[in-house]
Amino acid sequence: MDKLLIKGGTSLKGKVKITGSKNATLPILAACLLTEEPCVIHEVPLLQDIKTMLGLLSSLGADVTFNKNKVTICSGNQLSLEAPYDIVSKMRASIYVLGPLLARFHKVKVYFPGGCAIGPRPIDLHIKGMESLGAEVKVEHGYIDAKTSVLKGTNILLEGTSGPSVGATANVMMAATLANGTTNIIGAALEREIVDLANFLIALGAKIDGAGSSTIKITGIKKLKGSEWTPISDRIEAGSFACAAAITHGKIEIDNCNPEHLGAVNLTLRSIGCNISETKNKLTINAESDLMPTSIITAPYPGFPTDLQAQFMSVLSVADGTSMITENIFKNRFLHALELNRMGAQIKVEDNVAVIDGIKKLSGAQVMASDLRASVALVIAGLAAQGETVVSRIYHLDRGYERIEEKLHSLGAVVKRVSGK
Ligand code: EPZ
Repeated sequence: MDKLLIKGGTSLKGKVKITGSKNATLPILAACLLTEEPCVIHEVPLLQDIKTMLGLLSSLGADVTFNKNKVTICSGNQLSLEAPYDIVSKMRASIYVLGPLLARFHKVKVYFPGGCAIGPRPIDLHIKGMESLGAEVKVEHGYIDAKTSVLKGTNILLEGTSGPSVGATANVMMAATLANGTTNIIGAALEREIVDLANFLIALGAKIDGAGSSTIKITGIKKLKGSEWTPISDRIEAGSFACAAAITHGKIEIDNCNPEHLGAVNLTLRSIGCNISETKNKLTINAESDLMPTSIITAPYPGFPTDLQAQFMSVLSVADGTSMITENIFKNRFLHALELNRMGAQIKVEDNVAVIDGIKKLSGAQVMASDLRASVALVIAGLAAQGETVVSRIYHLDRGYERIEEKLHSLGAVVKRVSGK
C-alpha cells in the first residue's frame, strides 16, 4: 500500500489547476444509463471512484471507453440489472445506478450499501423516492430489489432529519425523467453538483426546472438521447488546496475553479486572516498573515461543506486561539482529530463538536488515513509540520484527488509517494 512522505515547512507558491468534480461526475456517468445513445463526458478526473463507477457500468453491459480525460458510454438495450456486492461495497456512489435502471428497464437490484468511516449512511430517502414514484422496493438478502410496471410522477418530500440528501435528490431526479407525468421533489438538495446533473439531463432532452432551488420539477418524457458534457470543476479539491496554502502561509492561484461555489468557504478563509481574490474561474489566496481561530458549522449547500471540515480542522489546529467545529451532516466524521492529535494538535471531540486549541507548530508523525477527506487533512497538516510526516493508507486519497503529490510538488511542497506495506 502506498504512503506519502511529507517534509513540512515550505510555503506553497504558484498555480494549481483543479480537475472536474468527482461528486458531479459520478451521477452524470450513472445518468448515461438512461439512454441507449452514446454520451461523451469530458474532463473526467482520473480517480479511483471514477474507475469504480466505470467498472460498474461496464459490468452492467455498457460499452465504456476512457481515453485521457474523455469517457464515452453507450448503454445499449441488453444491460444486466444488478449492481453486485463486490462493486457497491467499494463505493457507495454505486447507488446512483438505482434510479436510471429502474426508470429505463423498470427493474433493478443494487447491493445495499453499508456505513463507512464517516458514520452511518442511510438510504431510506432513496427508497422512499422510488416508492413514491410507484416502485415496489424490497430489501432482501442484502439487496435493494426494486421493480415497477410504470413509474408515475408525483410530489415527493425528500428531506431527512439531517436536511436534504444530495444522493437521493440525484437518484429521484434521474428516475423521474422517464416517469409518466410530473414529479416535484420538495426539499431537494441545492448542491451545485445537482444543478450540473440537471443540466446534463436537460442536454439529454429531459424536462427539468428549478434545480438549485429546494423544489425541482421534472416532467417525464418517453426517451432520452445522447449528448456531450463537461462537468463543473471540483469545489472540494479547490477548497483543499486553499487550506494547504493557508496552513503553510503560502500564496497560490487556484485555476479552473468557480469561486461562486465556495461562498461559505471563502468567508471562513477570510475570517481566519487569509486574503482571497476571486475572478470568474480563478481564486487567489494569500495567507501570509497569522491564522486566527473561528467557528465552523457544517451544513447543506450553500452552507459550509462537510467535505472540507477535516481540512479546516488541520488549518485551525495552528491558529492563534480556540476554534470550534460543529459537524451537522455526518456526526461521527471526526476520525482525523485523533490522528492530528498524534501530530501535537490539541483537539477535543464531544459528540458532533470539536474544540481545537491552536498550537504554534505541528510535529511530523506517522499517521493513518481513515477516509478520503481525512487523508487530505493529514497531508495538509504534514505540509506545515516540523519534520517528516508519513501518511499511510493513501488509497483513500486516490479515490478523490488526481495526482495530488505532483500538484503539491509543483507548488513547492516536499512530498513523495512511496510504495510499502
Ligand atoms: C454526497 O453524499 C457526497 N458524495 C459526499 O461526499 C458528501 O459528504 C455528502 O453528499 C454531503 O454533502 C457524493 O456526491 C458521491 P447525502 P451523499 O445523502 O449523497 C442523510 C466525499 O468526501 N441521509 O446528501 O451520500 C445522511 O446520513 C463524500 O466526497 C439520510 O438520512 O450524502 C446525511 O446526514 C463523502 N437518508 C445527510 O442525509 C438517506 O437516504 C446528507 O447525506 C440519505 C442521506
